[in-house]
Amino acid sequence: GWNMEDVMEKEIEVIKSTVGPDDHVICALSGGVDSTVAATLVHKAIGERLHCVFVDNGLLRYKERERVMETFERDLHLPVTCVDATEKFLGELKGVEDPEIKRKIIGKEFINIFDNFAHDLEKKLGTKPTYLVQGTLYPDVIESCPPPGSGRTHSHTIKSHHNVGGLPKDMKLKLIEPLKLLFKDEVRELGKILNVPEGFLKRHPFPGPGLAVRVLGDVTKNNALEILRQVDEIFIQSIKDAGLYDSIWQAFAVFLPVRSVGVQGDQRTHSHVVALRAVTSQDGMTADWYHFEHKFLDDVARKICNNVRGVNRVVQDITSKPPSTIEWE
Ligand code: XMP
Repeated sequence: GWNMEDVMEKEIEVIKSTVGPDDHVICALSGGVDSTVAATLVHKAIGERLHCVFVDNGLLRYKERERVMETFERDLHLPVTCVDATEKFLGELKGVEDPEIKRKIIGKEFINIFDNFAHDLEKKLGTKPTYLVQGTLYPDVIESCPPPGSGRTHSHTIKSHHNVGGLPKDMKLKLIEPLKLLFKDEVRELGKILNVPEGFLKRHPFPGPGLAVRVLGDVTKNNALEILRQVDEIFIQSIKDAGLYDSIWQAFAVFLPVRSVGVQGDQRTHSHVVALRAVTSQDGMTADWYHFEHKFLDDVARKICNNVRGVNRVVQDITSKPPSTIEWE
């Protein structure tokens, strides 16, 4: 292993000598570990000439925007513009049921918003930003043999990323990828040195299209996003309370666009069904469903039906990957 203190110092030197004194740098923060650590590193090197944007696409989890913005601002002092594009995204997604079309719409809308951010910034600064920071990791860059001179010798299984491909091509930004020789665990270690809060570094992966891939079908119908946020929060909080969060690769709830009959407080109900999914995995390529204790599941299901209006049934996903994928869409 490498000494992450050395890696940090070296990277900061490289960034300082690459980015000229009049250059400005932009970065899209996803709220995930990689982009956060990359931006923090660049910020340490060039300070206020870094300009970050975080987009609320309306598909984030319970209080997620507030929570990540607090980490960016209070813990990391990153200069971040938060763009609330909820209405734009949900407007474009209205009536759309096909999973691939949903993803395409979200990707395209993100590019539009990022483009606007860059143009607004150009007006404000009187000059075009020249560099773009990306949190690309080693497994993302490498196919089978390490780049010459990288110091990496071992081959590694490659994860195919669905996130890439997403930025305006006519922008002609030069890339800064300070994590491109690092593995995930090394990025976490680097993050620790950079004072990224431990809880943030350990967060489960969250897909770029957000809750859109966890509401089956039209995300704007049935108050689905609101219901899903509440269910997901109860599930995740219960997992944390039980001390299980760090043993699980990903856990989340899924909103099913069907209704089932129930009986709640002497009333017949006709409400929604939610599914709970939790998996263990090394890299997301394959995964095993996580075996909770029955008592835990019993408590969670009860808590969900008692607290979330519009839900009267909870089911658990007991398939592994393959044959299922981790996400439902
Ligand atoms: P699947 O569902 O393909 O997911 O088994 C494997 C891992 O990738 C995540 N995932 C995504 N991540 N953009 C992302 O950044 C995406 O479009 C996307 N789709 C799935 C998923 O959460 C799991 O960790």
